[in-house]
Amino acid sequence: MKNKELGIAVVGAGRIGTLRARLAARHPSVGFLAIADLDPQRAKALADAAGADFHSGDNMEVIERPEVNAVFVSTPEGEHAAPVRRALELGKPVLCEKPIALSLKDADDMLDTLKATGGKLRIGYSRRYKECFLRAKEQMAQGRLGKVIGGLARVYNSRAQTFAILERDPHATPVLDVLTYYVDLMCWFLEGNRPVEAVARGQHGIFRDAGYSAHDATWAIVTFADGAVVNFGISYALPARFPTQGQSDRVELLGTEGTMLIDDDHKEHLIYTEKGVPHPYVPGHQLNMAFLGSNSAGDWALGEFWGSLGNETRAWLDHLVTGNPTAHTTPEQARINLETTIAIERAVATGKAVKLPLETR
Ligand SMILES: NC(=O)c1ccc[n+]([C@@H]2O[C@H](COP(=O)([O-])OP(=O)(O)OC[C@H]3O[C@@H](n4cnc5c(N)ncnc54)[C@H](O)[C@@H]3O)[C@@H](O)[C@H]2O)c1
Repeated sequence: MKNKELGIAVVGAGRIGTLRARLAARHPSVGFLAIADLDPQRAKALADAAGADFHSGDNMEVIERPEVNAVFVSTPEGEHAAPVRRALELGKPVLCEKPIALSLKDADDMLDTLKATGGKLRIGYSRRYKECFLRAKEQMAQGRLGKVIGGLARVYNSRAQTFAILERDPHATPVLDVLTYYVDLMCWFLEGNRPVEAVARGQHGIFRDAGYSAHDATWAIVTFADGAVVNFGISYALPARFPTQGQSDRVELLGTEGTMLIDDDHKEHLIYTEKGVPHPYVPGHQLNMAFLGSNSAGDWALGEFWGSLGNETRAWLDHLVTGNPTAHTTPEQARINLETTIAIERAVATGKAVKLPLETR
């Protein structure tokens, strides 16, 4: 009873493209799979591993294949715009990785193409599909906190993963690349209420010494349109062998009639082994002690991939088939996320409060 109506292209055969492709290959509605990567060897290796039907070093050749009717764009942060726009021009729905882009110009070019084509574009903020945050969203949808007056979201990770991200793109700072998830979550929880001002401070050290502009720690207070004040914080500079495998975070919401405290550090699920646990994101990096469940995307178990990116990918493929409403981040929200994280970086750089929306064009 399989109706294989989806032909999927995955553009970018790296860590996340690999997960998208392997998950798509297992989905009962996918009948054709094609892989593109700037590096044709990587495209071939993933095509072989996922059992794909076609691969190429040319993104456009893959996106334009007649069998392809939906596209995942899993290229590095600054390389999303061209493949997204080509797919939209061809009327093919796109799930693009977060952040939508690293510049507002690239984001606006994508939004312009979307408007001109009337197509479908969503951005992969997989934190929304982590079960603790889905549950939290349901409590918000039920209005159990009353009016939210403020909150907190802070996330920690080891510097081992940050160096892997900065090597891919030195402009993908922890604020633009990771704090964006928490801006997205808070905006989702506070739906209809957008950030209007950011004040922030940051501290340089380890990353600057290594030649990057990224801060080791950034703390921001963001005010929303109705006056709610939210503290966003990130340090992705913890020692390389700190047990986090991705994100150790805490999210708190304070309302007039309720409070929600989400402890997502994963300290409650610990492994220690003399044999070492391979880091899921950083090749060759091993931990003796690991917080299981802290990998941002999720985990392999018994030959299947489980967790937020698994949920998100399956939900997207299901959505393409059923047309049912979906919680994947809209490009308009993704642009607000980008704008807010840029405002936080500007507030750190200038020491001044930065008003939102930012003036552009
Ligand atoms: N949702 C999540 O859990 C999650 C986690 C990590 C990263 N991400 C996002 O996924 C995206 C990719 O991250 P990654 O960790 O897979 O990176 P990666 O470095 O592992 O892979 C990127 C791949 O893209 C290829 N590439 C580079 N430029 C290209 C281009 N112009 N066209 C085609 N291929 C190109 C590279 O050769 C590489 O194979 C980023 O936007 C990142 O922020 C999401």
